[in-house]
Amino acid sequence: MPYSQAVKRLTERDWQPVELAEPVPIAELPTPALLIDEAALDRNLKRMAEFLAEKGKGLRPHAKTHKCPVIAQRQLSLGAVGVCAAKVSEAVVLVNSGVDTVLITSAILSEGKAEIVGELCRRTDQLTVVVDSDQGLELLLRHVPEGSCLGVIVDVDVSMGRTGTRDEKQIIKLAEQCANSRNLRYCGIQHYAGHLMHVAGFAKRREKSLELWQRIGEICEMLGSRGLAPEIVTGAGTGTYNIDCGVAEITDLQTGSYIFMDQEYRLIGGEEGDLFDDFEVSLSVVTTAISQPVTGAITVDGGYKAFASDTVNPEPMTIAGSKFRFGGDEHGIVILKEGTQEPVLGGIQQFITPHCDPTVNLHDVYWVCNDGLVHSFWPIAARGCSW
Ligand SMILES: Cc1ncc(COP(=O)(O)O)c(C=O)c1O
Repeated sequence: MPYSQAVKRLTERDWQPVELAEPVPIAELPTPALLIDEAALDRNLKRMAEFLAEKGKGLRPHAKTHKCPVIAQRQLSLGAVGVCAAKVSEAVVLVNSGVDTVLITSAILSEGKAEIVGELCRRTDQLTVVVDSDQGLELLLRHVPEGSCLGVIVDVDVSMGRTGTRDEKQIIKLAEQCANSRNLRYCGIQHYAGHLMHVAGFAKRREKSLELWQRIGEICEMLGSRGLAPEIVTGAGTGTYNIDCGVAEITDLQTGSYIFMDQEYRLIGGEEGDLFDDFEVSLSVVTTAISQPVTGAITVDGGYKAFASDTVNPEPMTIAGSKFRFGGDEHGIVILKEGTQEPVLGGIQQFITPHCDPTVNLHDVYWVCNDGLVHSFWPIAARGCSW
């Protein structure tokens, strides 16, 4: 019952873009506001699509970053082989909006969620899920409809220790059971090394990532020798996109953050410099300066409810050299660099997000601008879809 109610509410969510009656300047947005620079977003989307196409690899971008069917549709129209969803609820929103080639990248171990996957199979024959345990597979087998062709990918853990199975026998067993099932389609394996994405320094990141892929290569060989050669080998993220694309076994990359970029990613360093700037910052949070109890600092109307951060702070874009510190749930304090002119109260202050995915999850919509004018908003339809 709670699941069917929850699904009903998700399918009632608005997801379509809404055009404003007339474009407005950024300064007129209700702040704190999540802002997309549409031209930069489109350049990022195109850059990754073209880069991977050139390398002969597929792109299966992760929708956990944007949670927005409008963006998923743009990714598909640029040739993505499908999109990823982190959880079942995200997949519900995507499928409901017509995005039907979806891979759910987290294991499903609840009866209610497996039932929803079964229902989704009636709406799309392009759904794929990962599995890493007997219990998970057994649940799926019980809930997929007769004659369904739910794709199944075995999630393999090499060293992260978060999800997946490391046990060779288990990998073979799961792959065999899927291959022998009438209602499932065995597709291959997933390897996502989340702990490597933010390793600072390209050379170090490269060395570590390729080391893990070597093990994946062995697993592919082992599966191949048993007649279970994976058709799909999916994984990788923005931090290793230009490393993992050279791995022979990988068929498609699950990059997510490249569309927006955030401060955590910018600081890891790129192949050619200290800043990872292969993709542009297309996402920011716009705030308003609302108080100035002391000179040399100014308070803005965005705090923990506007920015999600696990390591770094929001990066000020408006006043060069200033620093942001959190001032609680509703406020942030911009510490001005010495000699900087005091900003005006009521003016806007814009920031690069510290960590884009969880920041997006705090907002209802993206305000979308071109050349400084906001023309539309796009609902973040899968906001809060963490189950
Ligand atoms: C399984 C999986 N694949 C891909 C990604 C995308 O990673 P990124 O945003 O670093 O590109 C994530 C992000 O957490 C993930 O969990």
